[in-house]
Amino acid sequence: MKKKILCVVGTRPEAIKMAPVILALKAEPWANVRLLATAQHRHMLDQVLDFFDIEPDIDLNIMRPNQALTTLTARLLLELDLVLEAEKPDIVLAQGDTTTVMAAALACFYHHIPFGHIEAGLRTGDLQSPFPEEANRVIAGRLARWHFAPTESSRENLLREGISDSNITVTGNTVIDALLMTAAKDCALGIDLDSDKRLILVTSHRRENFGTPFRNICRALQALAERNPNVQFLYPVHPNPNVKDVAYELLGPFPNIHLCAPLEYAPFVTAMKRSYLIISDSGGVQEEAPALGKPVLVLRDETERPEAVDQGVVKLVGANFERILAETQRLLDDAAAYRAMARGVSPYGDGRASERIVRVLREHFG
Ligand code: UD1
Ligand code: UDP
Repeated sequence: MKKKILCVVGTRPEAIKMAPVILALKAEPWANVRLLATAQHRHMLDQVLDFFDIEPDIDLNIMRPNQALTTLTARLLLELDLVLEAEKPDIVLAQGDTTTVMAAALACFYHHIPFGHIEAGLRTGDLQSPFPEEANRVIAGRLARWHFAPTESSRENLLREGISDSNITVTGNTVIDALLMTAAKDCALGIDLDSDKRLILVTSHRRENFGTPFRNICRALQALAERNPNVQFLYPVHPNPNVKDVAYELLGPFPNIHLCAPLEYAPFVTAMKRSYLIISDSGGVQEEAPALGKPVLVLRDETERPEAVDQGVVKLVGANFERILAETQRLLDDAAAYRAMARGVSPYGDGRASERIVRVLREHFG
């Protein structure tokens, strides 16, 4: 009898990081793989699933414009309850720290279904930051049976919380599997950029930056764009209204800042490859950019991904006007400082994380 594995995805980064695992599991003769899309994101999720040619078996279509976290959580739990009751999977797998993941882990606990957590053990140690992700991953980690930790330091975080070493496997991050699969295809960017100008790629969406911090980030980008007319900025804007409305209002008028809708994954990888440096508060981008040899200035004061900071290829600049300005300008003007950060190291994986995850599951279920 095949074992039923229910994979759960809700948002863009979960789909990117789960896609290599889902594809690898589908090749296993002992596994009956089912995909549940909560669709906490709609358009951004569909883009990724289309790109990897993966179709959900169940779609909860949970996204509503500007949905509050409590409403989102409550609706997810009600829907997940029905799905688990009907599907009765042998195991549920989910990745990361979104509300979808936390709700999936909790619903599995209530149904006595073992939960496997991919990208386990990332911690800042501050429940408020990133908000609500730190709490989401602490809860998912407490309830999980299998912990697939991307790095040795994430494994150590789990051990400190009393998780048994025998339930943890260090696998690398599946985002590098997805990145290598995608980068090899060399997709066109599809946006008209000046080939003579250096490109700074920007993304930002963190909830703890909403309001004044995000306005500070935008003011710093304004100042950089004014001071460096020979540099072009590309900013695919996250659709959360708290980000989108402010970004278009403050950055729209600048001729060398190109704002666009979220890019599909393959063109976004092309944009990372084409960029001179990246300014971002994204978790996934902090993992991908070092593997592509691109420096990242992170718009946060702390990170649950300290490995690339320790290696000197990622730097924290906060949502701080002066620091964003000074560090970006330094990387534009100081070739030695730039070279030191553009070394091409990949602390988060070697492209074989999904293979290691599948091996653990095969040994147990296969
Ligand atoms: C979510 C995750 C965050 C993750 C991020 C990745 C939570 C609480 N937040 O943040 O951890 O880092 O995704 O991008 O789990 N929207 C659209 N179209 C889309 C997606 C979102 O219009 O395809 C808008 C909707 O108005 C939606 C809002 O964005 O209500 C917020 O979406 P939500 O999933 O709650 O949070 P994100 O900020 O996207
Ligand atoms: N990404 C994308 N299109 C974009 C911006 C980002 O495909 O316009 C990809 C990026 O390469 C990374 C992931 O989305 O793999 C990161 O998602 P996000 O920043 O939304 O979430 P986080 O990683 O912070 O949870």
